[in-house]
Amino acid sequence: MHLQTVNSNVRGKVHMFPQRRMRRVRTRNVQPLLCETTLTKNDLVAPLFVDETTTTPKPIGSMPGQFRYPVEGISGIAGKLWERGIRAVLLFGIPAHKDDAATSAYDSEGIVQQAVRRIKAAYPDMVVITDVCACEYTSHGHCGIVGGIRSGEKDLLNDESLLLMNRIAISHAEAGADIVAPSCMLDGMVRSIRNALDDEGYEDVLIMSYSTKFSSALYGPFREAAESGFSFGDRSTYQMNPANGREAYLESRLDLEEGADILMVKPAGPYLDVLAEIATLGLPVAGYQVSGEYSMIKAAAERGWIKEKETVLETLTCIKRAGADLIITYFAYDVCGWL
Ligand code: PBG
Ligand code: ZN
Repeated sequence: MHLQTVNSNVRGKVHMFPQRRMRRVRTRNVQPLLCETTLTKNDLVAPLFVDETTTTPKPIGSMPGQFRYPVEGISGIAGKLWERGIRAVLLFGIPAHKDDAATSAYDSEGIVQQAVRRIKAAYPDMVVITDVCACEYTSHGHCGIVGGIRSGEKDLLNDESLLLMNRIAISHAEAGADIVAPSCMLDGMVRSIRNALDDEGYEDVLIMSYSTKFSSALYGPFREAAESGFSFGDRSTYQMNPANGREAYLESRLDLEEGADILMVKPAGPYLDVLAEIATLGLPVAGYQVSGEYSMIKAAAERGWIKEKETVLETLTCIKRAGADLIITYFAYDVCGWL
């Protein structure tokens, strides 16, 4: 088919134009009718930081507009989100005590466990998702138990750390979490947690796996927010190389086989090719617009270099267009005011 055609109509008039005029579908009144992707409040998950070391909301310097909340205030915050139309939150905890074995992470009186109970008591229909990882709770800042020597230094021990993840997941389920979200990128974490939950009678608790999680510089602001930076090495011996697409697909496929209910691609924005491919696996897929994606937009908007609302709505719509069924974003509250 040629874009440029020469036609003559019945009156013998000669046209030197493309017949497939794409601008026909872009008139202002027709456009909404043909829109393929619409962002709704039901797509959104709001991350929340609960901090055991504070009694007042603490602003997060690297993430303007975001706070670490004391547990006493958490149902109030959940209420504000609920009133806006948000139906799902993802909880991260900052404990008062850290040690090598992340013991605060599975304490029934731990910060996340308390927050879950308070939110579920006040808003039983709020979907409460918990991040299952150890990096906020370990003194070294890695996502599980470290030891041995790999790649020249101490490293995350896989199978030893799985037992820790089982305990964390069970403690969250016991507190009333609807969905547990392991983010440690350990091999076998989904099957291990599924078995543990089922053994304890929590077969209705979903697992949203951070199934394809890249070792990304875009988590930088979060590590200040959650005090989860590491004291040695980095996370590239367990999180994925951003350069690898086939491996990214395989990571998520394995988690499907292990029994995950929801898969995830994280970060979302720079990895939409990966997200689109993983969506073909058939499970629901979450896209996580991470702290760095948030802070870049905030910083540029603060300088007047981009328009915040337009940029946020564009980036989130694109994540949905690529195949995300749910989107975890620090903009969730603001977006609900715009939709
Ligand atoms: C913990 C965890 C991280 C994020 C979510 N869960 C940090 C990391 O892996 O270092 C990042 C979230 C964000 O940047 O918004 N494993
Ligand atoms: Zn972690």
